[in-house]
Amino acid sequence: MILPIYIYGQSVLRKVAEDIPTDYPGLKELITNMFETMDHADGVGLAAPQVGLPVRVVVIDLDVLSDEHPEFKGFRKAYINPHILETSGEEISMEEGCLSLPGIHETVKRSDRIHVSYLDEELTPHDEIVEGYLARVMQHEFDHLEGKMFIDHLSPLRKQMIKGKLNAMLKGKAHCTYKVKTLK
Ligand code: NI
Repeated sequence: MILPIYIYGQSVLRKVAEDIPTDYPGLKELITNMFETMDHADGVGLAAPQVGLPVRVVVIDLDVLSDEHPEFKGFRKAYINPHILETSGEEISMEEGCLSLPGIHETVKRSDRIHVSYLDEELTPHDEIVEGYLARVMQHEFDHLEGKMFIDHLSPLRKQMIKGKLNAMLKGKAHCTYKVKTLK
C-alpha cells in the first residue's frame, strides 16, 4: 500500500524516533509499504517518520545507481533500530534531495565513513563500517530518526535562499507526483 509522505512542517519529522521491539505489530507490512511508497516516489531511501511514524525503521534501495556503481546491483535493504555509533573519514560535499522537501536540492557535507549498528529484516543484528555513497544515504535517512532534515546542515545563507519554498510547504503547497500530507 502506498502511504502519503509527510512534508516539511509536520511535527513527526522533528521527533526523535524510538527503537521498536522485535515483535512490533505489523513490522513486515510497514516495511513492505515503505518500499512501495519509496518506489512510487522514485526515492532511494525513506524513513518511518516520513510516513508519519516516529519509529526507527528505514528502507534504502540503491539498485537504480547500479549502472554507475555495480556494487549496488540489487541493493534493497530495511534497517531496524539503526544507530550511528561514530562518523569518521573525509567530509564530502554532494547534492541531496528529500521526499519530504520536494523541489529543494542543496549541497550537504557529510562524513565518508560511519560505524553503524542495526537489525536487518530478519532481525539479525549487524555492526558495520560503511563508506562512500551508502554512508551518505544512511546518514541522510538516519538523520530523519533524530528529527533532523538535510536542510539543517545548510549555511545561514543557503537557508535564507530556500525560505520561500519552505514557507510555501508550511502553507500546504507541495508540488509532487506522489501522495503527500502537508500541514494544511
Ligand atoms: Ni529525506
